[in-house]
Amino acid sequence: MAAARIAVALLAALAVTSCNGGVSGTPGASGTRDQLFPRLGNDGYDVQHYSLDLEYDPASGNLSGGATIVARATKDLSAFDLDFAGMDVRAATVDDEPAAVNRAGDELTLRPHEDLDRGETFTAYVRYSGRPRTITDLDGAQEGWLKSADGGVLALGEPAGSMAWFPSNNHPSDKATYDIKVTVPDGLQVVSNGELASTAHNGGLTTFNWQTKQPMATYLAMLAIGHYEIDDKGTTKSGIPVYTAVAPDAKQKTAEVVAQLPDIIAWEEAKFGPYPFSSTGVIVAPAKSAAYALETQNRPVMPLDQFDLSTLVHELAHQWFGDSVTPAAWRDMWLNEGFAQYSEWLWSEDHGGMSAQDRFDIEYAKGDGDEIWAFPPAAPPTAADVSGRPVYVRGAMVVHKIREAVGDEKFFALLQDWLRTHRHANASTKDFTRFADEEAGHRLTEVWNTWLYGDGKPDSP
Ligand code: TRP
Ligand code: ZN
Repeated sequence: MAAARIAVALLAALAVTSCNGGVSGTPGASGTRDQLFPRLGNDGYDVQHYSLDLEYDPASGNLSGGATIVARATKDLSAFDLDFAGMDVRAATVDDEPAAVNRAGDELTLRPHEDLDRGETFTAYVRYSGRPRTITDLDGAQEGWLKSADGGVLALGEPAGSMAWFPSNNHPSDKATYDIKVTVPDGLQVVSNGELASTAHNGGLTTFNWQTKQPMATYLAMLAIGHYEIDDKGTTKSGIPVYTAVAPDAKQKTAEVVAQLPDIIAWEEAKFGPYPFSSTGVIVAPAKSAAYALETQNRPVMPLDQFDLSTLVHELAHQWFGDSVTPAAWRDMWLNEGFAQYSEWLWSEDHGGMSAQDRFDIEYAKGDGDEIWAFPPAAPPTAADVSGRPVYVRGAMVVHKIREAVGDEKFFALLQDWLRTHRHANASTKDFTRFADEEAGHRLTEVWNTWLYGDGKPDSP
């Protein structure tokens, strides 16, 4: 009996195979076959909802709490993986029964007491604590759990950072709704995605409860903990609540541009169609608190040293391109960055600056050896290339070539139709080219072959 139990425990730990009363579940794989990030995401289930209940102690740097994950099995499962980096897992259950836990690198394997059947909705709970770590991304930048000098924290990261602070199916193809509760000492603010549903004080601590009701990819989840000045009074012209949080040091330098946020949203709504989420805003974080600005859902996070009008236009454009319509895989990243970059060009064109054509011409004039021609925007060769210049700049040039091919009227209709058709969902480059060909009424073969997939600098602009 004891030996049998040890054998079962070993099998559970190794997640080798099912041994559960005749049901033929097998372990879900530890990745999603993403060509660039094969270890991110997992297979065998689809998350519907994350509910996080966390407490952060700035004095010790300790984070503790639990993640409740409601998911649907997409096959018979004897075990499944979550992506989780660092921290200590204290307990885990599946459907309220203890689950066996194994950890290997950034993979957390849960083996439920009973196999899960394909189609079944289940609830996994993971209790954890520890000092969250930072994750070094491919450019050597730090993401994940970033402590700033003032005792605050930014929790964010594209592509992988969220696994530093909660276990998840960490791949853009699995979007879910969120309920995020964070408890901190009184006096600190906690800002996250979605809307602030409640703030409760208890024994010197404050609990902030943020709710995200539209589906969100894990790389867009964030927390900003710190001393922020909050403005939650305004709405956009279309009636979307605006919630901004600005680090005190950043206030003076950014107030004028932050005040333009409702006008930027109005301009983007005119270009791209209805704003996709139930609130908007921005977080201007302390200088150097993160290596990059990020289009975290509802409200981008922008460290002061990364903050300017054009970047704000870019990050807000991502609410449509990336946050609402999310890439199916990491190699489709030009669908985010090409369009966000092109939005900056369009903004400039509409506001007395250079035209998009001028911007295109400046880029095209760059020599054969320039890094923007290093690889085709739709085919970043390595994981380190997903945030490379070809994805952004040559991605924007692809968008411009589509505009040139179909004319302004069809072009803006195409953008809005694309965003409406794929709202809150995922889409691949193939989905896009097929869609654009249909809207154009003919195949844009030259644009795809030369600009989107072609190697090197195209022979003519
Ligand atoms: N998406 C961020 C921006 O708006 C930049 C970024 C950070 C990024 N990490 C990334 C882009 C990883 C692609 C992949 O521009
Ligand atoms: Zn971007």
